[in-house]
Amino acid sequence: MKQNVSSSITTEIFEQREKHRRSLFSNVWSQMVPKVFKDVPRYYRPGNIVASLGLWEIWVWQFVRTINLLPQYQVLDVCAGTNDVGIRLRKKEPLISVTAIDRSQEMQIEGQRRAKKTGLQIASIIQDVHELPFPDSSFDVITLQAASRHLQLDKVLPEIFRVLKPGGFFYHCDMLKPNNPVVEWLYLRFLRISVFMTSMIFGSTETTRKCNGYFGDAIHHFYTTDEFSDVLQLIGFSNIKCKRSIWGGMVGFHAAQKVSI
Ligand SMILES: C[S@@+](CC[C@H](N)C(=O)[O-])C[C@H]1O[C@@H](n2cnc3c(N)ncnc32)[C@H](O)[C@@H]1O
Repeated sequence: MKQNVSSSITTEIFEQREKHRRSLFSNVWSQMVPKVFKDVPRYYRPGNIVASLGLWEIWVWQFVRTINLLPQYQVLDVCAGTNDVGIRLRKKEPLISVTAIDRSQEMQIEGQRRAKKTGLQIASIIQDVHELPFPDSSFDVITLQAASRHLQLDKVLPEIFRVLKPGGFFYHCDMLKPNNPVVEWLYLRFLRISVFMTSMIFGSTETTRKCNGYFGDAIHHFYTTDEFSDVLQLIGFSNIKCKRSIWGGMVGFHAAQKVSI
């Protein structure tokens, strides 16, 4: 990963962008997204593999590879869903402890089922992540994968910063806005078709099918990989590194440190 902060996102731009995202999506985030994640646990993993033409597994594997762990580390997986990240982290370093937080009980039930199947223990908290129920400086590592598009970043990132220990690292990975508008146009068209096909194959509910347009819109109004680095810097993170995966940043990876004061 390379060090890269472009400084194109100032505090004012960040505030405006978050306000705009809220005005567009707050109803979807509070009403539809929870219903979607009630429906998808039964086909979450195969659904992602089909929708991404097999690339999903590679992205999760690449993400976990970026994460440095030491035995005894306390790790928090924010929006942990089916514990895809937490399970892989515990396999990578069995002596860490992982806490998963997600507001979807259904996703976490599937996550606990998967963790038990592999004999790994992951603590589970069902709660909205815009407020994290932990004291300051609680975790050595915090991860957030495939969920930042659905969140109010001006609320959740300061919370992540607060509960991270000084010296600790935050690792992020999501589908981000590509730098190139042509790539973005093709990508969002592909996404619309692939999500529709996936919902037909796996028999999604009507609400999930209705959310099809939102997934593309959420990326269109989101940040590029470099802009997301700027946002992390505004929040107070240091040593920010990022990497774009395929075609100018359809998926981005970040590592950022909370340095000791
Ligand atoms: C695409 S899934 C990714 C989950 C996980 N990283 C995985 O791979 O299984 C997004 C998750 O974010 C969760 N989520 C979205 N908004 C949330 C919020 N405001 N508070 C807590 N969880 C939220 C959803 O419930 C869902 O489980």
